[in-house]
Order: sequence, then structure tokens, then C-alpha cells
Amino acid sequence: MARLQNHTAIITSASNGIGRAIALRFASEGAYVLLADTTETPRTGDATTLDLIRQAGWAADFRQTDVASWANLSACVADVAARHGRLDIMVNNAAIGKGGRLTDTTEDEWDDTMAVNLKGVFLGCKAAAQQMLGQEPRGEVRGRLINISSQHGMISSPNHLAYGVSKAGVVYMTRQIAADYAADGIVCNAIAPGKILTDMGGHVPTPDQLAYATSRTPWPRLGQPEDVASAALFLASPDATYITGENLMVDGGWMAS
Ligand SMILES: NC(=O)c1ccc[n+]([C@@H]2O[C@H](COP(=O)([O-])OP(=O)(O)OC[C@H]3O[C@@H](n4cnc5c(N)ncnc54)[C@H](O)[C@@H]3O)[C@@H](O)[C@H]2O)c1
Repeated sequence: MARLQNHTAIITSASNGIGRAIALRFASEGAYVLLADTTETPRTGDATTLDLIRQAGWAADFRQTDVASWANLSACVADVAARHGRLDIMVNNAAIGKGGRLTDTTEDEWDDTMAVNLKGVFLGCKAAAQQMLGQEPRGEVRGRLINISSQHGMISSPNHLAYGVSKAGVVYMTRQIAADYAADGIVCNAIAPGKILTDMGGHVPTPDQLAYATSRTPWPRLGQPEDVASAALFLASPDATYITGENLMVDGGWMAS
């Protein structure tokens, strides 16, 4: 039995990297997934996530979405609710990284980063929770919110002040929402990836960055998007019902060392 049969999910920024892996994994487990990204074509020029899912015989749609826009995110939720009657899982995955150290970060870079990484998660959680509150629970749970944070929300993000602060905000927001909505049957967790091999933001990691990440990671390899997708599937499934407000490290032991 597929673990997400008859479930619906929205995955933000599902065209590349971690979001793409989560979308493929959820669809393979029977979920209908709405893929929400500013652009549908992956940076590599490979097949779109939508094409891969449909070619496999699974169910998905793509909707052009800027997570910094309430209108865009609430339209995603309305779309899924209109097609399937409910939204079971919201994955807030979109993030960008602009600016540098404190003195190298402009006001615009700060605002842009917060608009996507922090406000985007706020808007995604809010739009999803509004729908979830009005739907019948499946067992104990009305809906699940999964926010992608980072180990750099807990320790300094080398030369990336705005990114690190935004991710720390995501960890806090996850706890607050979990506490505020537990009585309503909404489960809210975060996943904190360590170094995952994507070309995040279109930047292929430099040899120096890879060497730094490798030196910080006890496990004898760096992460793959599928490692994060496995954690997301766990948090999206009934196996994780009494787990809420958690920030699950998927970091090969980075934060343990
Ligand atoms: N890759 C890592 O090592 C790593 C480590 C820690 C945390 N993370 C987090 O994982 C998540 C995914 O990272 P990734 O490496 O897959 O990134 P990625 O850059 O490969 O993919 C990000 C996607 O976000 C989309 N996007 C950008 N701005 C958007 C917006 N305003 N609205 C909607 N979509 C938008 C892009 O089009 C792209 O498809 C991010 O939250 C990131 O902070 C990644």
C-alpha cells in the first residue's frame, strides 16, 4: 500500500533540487502533488518534474508561483481544494541566498531573502492552515506542514547573514505554529538539511565549499536530495503523528560533531 494514497500535497520550488526529489517521492507514494515554482524548467534543462511524474503514471500539476505572494500561494491552496476537496500536506521549500556578511549585505538583499525564505514560509503555512482547519481530520490529523530550514538556522552561515537569520526564523516559526495548532490537529515540523548536493540558486558548489562541507560532515559522503525526501515522507506520513514542532536534521551528523 502506497504511504500517501489519496493524499494531496503542495511542494514549493519543486522544479529543482530538494523540492523536485520530494515531489517525485510523494507522487511515487500515491499523493497528488501541486508543483509550485517561479519557473517550470529545471536549470539543467532536463525533463520537468511534472513530465517525470506523469510519465510514471502518477498525478501532478504545475502552477507558476512566487512564494513571496499571498495571492499566488492562496491560489495554489484553492486549486488543490477545488480539484480534490482537501490539502493534506504543505511543503514550504523555496529559498534564496543573497548578500554576504553584515557589512556586505544591502537592504535590498536582506528584503529579498526575507521575502522568499521567511515571509514565503509564513504565507505558505497560513494559506495551508486556513484550508486544513476547515477539513475533517484523517485519524487525528487535519493536515501537515513541513518547512525546509537548514543547519545554518542554528549555527552561523558563513558569509550569509540574511540566509542564516531567515532559516533561524523558520525553525522558530515551526515551533510556534506546532504549539498554536496542535489542538486543531495540525502537525508542523521542519527539516534541516546539511550539505545536499544541488546547485542551489544556480551556484554549483566550488571545490572550497565542498571541502568545507566534507570537513564538517562525519558521514562519509555529502547528502543527496533523496535523503531529504525520505525525511519529508516520514513527516508527511501517519508514522510522525506525535512528532510536532521538531526540526529534523538531515545532515550526516554535521550538527552532532
Ligand atoms: N542544498 C543544500 O545544501 C541545502 C542545505 C540546507 C538547506 N537547504 C534548503 O533546501 C531548500 C531547497 O534547496 P535546493 O538546494 O534544492 O535549492 P535550489 O536552488 O536547487 O532549488 C530552489 C528552487 O526554488 C525556486 N524558487 C526560487 N525563488 C522562488 C520563489 N520566490 N517562489 C517559488 N520558488 C522559488 C527555484 O526556481 C528553484 O527551483 C531551500 O529551502 C534551502 O535553503 C538546502
